[in-house]
This record gives sequence, structure tokens and C-alpha cells, in this order.
Amino acid sequence: MNLKGFFNREKNQDDLLRTVSSKPIPKHIAIIMDGNGRWAEARHLPRTAGHRQGVEALREIIKTSVQLKIAHLTLYAFSTENWKRPESEIRALMSLMVEFLKKELPELHENEIKINMLGDMQGLPQDAVREIQNAMDVTRHNQGLHVNIAINYGSRMEIVKAVKKIAQDISQSVLTPDDIDEHLFSQYLETRSIPDPDLMIRTGGECRLSNFLLYQSAYTELLFTDKQILWPNFTRRRYLEAISEYQFRKRRFGGIDVGEGV
Ligand code: FPP
Repeated sequence: MNLKGFFNREKNQDDLLRTVSSKPIPKHIAIIMDGNGRWAEARHLPRTAGHRQGVEALREIIKTSVQLKIAHLTLYAFSTENWKRPESEIRALMSLMVEFLKKELPELHENEIKINMLGDMQGLPQDAVREIQNAMDVTRHNQGLHVNIAINYGSRMEIVKAVKKIAQDISQSVLTPDDIDEHLFSQYLETRSIPDPDLMIRTGGECRLSNFLLYQSAYTELLFTDKQILWPNFTRRRYLEAISEYQFRKRRFGGIDVGEGV
């Protein structure tokens, strides 16, 4: 083992952390954790082994987010379209989430992390609903990183539900059509208490949003990794590099230059 190389790498990572920390940090990062299946297939392992390795990657990303004092991390764990997968894979994914919440809850809580859930709990296995509910209850007063886990989430479904609720509120004279504006609409979405994502990262090389936070990401900076970087090998270093790239982007929100990564 080349220990010199190892120590240099560690030192460089600390430098990178310091550099990233010294610049404006995104308040909200959303992640599409893609490529678990391909990671496993490349190793002749079952796809579920890729998801398991994906949880390991997730631990590092949560830890780094806490170190950077990021306010919100939103993770696309299971979409409304993922029900099309083989039943065995769905079961394995749900069990992994339950296992993650059971095992990690004490440490998440100790680190002031608040767990929140986006998506429709109906249709999820009972043990998953129980663990999610418990994690939300236990961490509800925490003031640190908010980890928003999107499970059985689809942005179009979220938007359609918001429209229905607005229509109901109008029919019950709670609202008039004139009350509807972008801000009011956003208050009917599941993300009502969460700022829009500043940065969305998708690993695995696909360049699409796959029905994730469509309304909320109107001005989000998008970062698609190349296809060799699958979620299980999205390391802390790569995360820091992604945030560093964001910090060099010029965000204009349709206006003129307001500076880098702010
Ligand atoms: C996409 O990769 C990944 C998923 C559908 C699941 C992501 C879930 C985890 C990382 C683990 C559980 C999460 C939590 C919150 C504990 P894919 O299978 O579509 O990959 P492929 O494109 O290579 O097939």
C-alpha cells in the first residue's frame, strides 16, 4: 500500500473541504442516486448488492453534508415509477430503508439531523411506514441537517394533488382564483417548508430529472456526473468536487449576474 499517496489524498480532501466551506454553501442539495444496479451488474452481483452499497455511499454524503452545515438534503430513494421493478427488488429496497432508519436513527438524532419524508406513504409496506413515522417523530425538534427522503414520490402526482386541493379550497370559499400565485401554489406542495434546491446532482450519466422536484427546480443548478460515476462510487471527494463546481456557477435567476454559486 502506498501510504504516501493515501496521506496526500487525505490532506487534499481536507484542503478541498476547507475551500468549499469558505465559499457560499448551497442551502439545499437534491440527489438522484442513480446507478446502483449497474454498479452491481459490473461486479456480477445481484442488483440489491448495488443498493446496499448505495446506502454506504449515502452515509458518507450525509456526514459530509453535516460537516458543511448544509440545511437540506433531499434524496430520491423510490419513485412512483419504481413500482414497475421486479417485486424482489422492491422488497429489498424497502427493507434496506427500514434497516437504515432502524440502525442509523440514534446517530442521526445525536447529530441533530431531522428526518422528513416526501411522497405517498400509502402503498408502502407497514414496517416502512412505522420506521419512517418513528424517525420523523424522534427527530422532529432537531435543528441540524434536514434529510428529506422521497419515497413513492413523483413530482407530477405532487402537482396534481396540489391542484386538487386548491380546487377544493376554492369550492369551499377558503380561496379565490385571484389568490393563486407562485408562492401560494408552492405552499400546496409537499416541500412547502423547504427552500427550492440550489443544486441537483444525478449520478450515473443520465441527463434527466425523472419526475423529481419539477416545480421546485425551475432555477436549480443541475449537475450530471459522467456514466462511470455510479451512486455507490459517489465518494465524499466527488461530492465536495460537485459542490465546488456549483460554487463556480453564475446564478442569474433570469436576471443579470449576482455572483458565483449564490
Ligand atoms: C437508482 O439506481 C436507485 C434507486 C432506485 C434506489 C436508491 C436507493 C438507495 C441508495 C438505498 C436506500 C435509500 C435510503 C434512503 C436508505 P438504479 O437501480 O436505477 O441503477 P441502474 O440505473 O444502474 O439500474
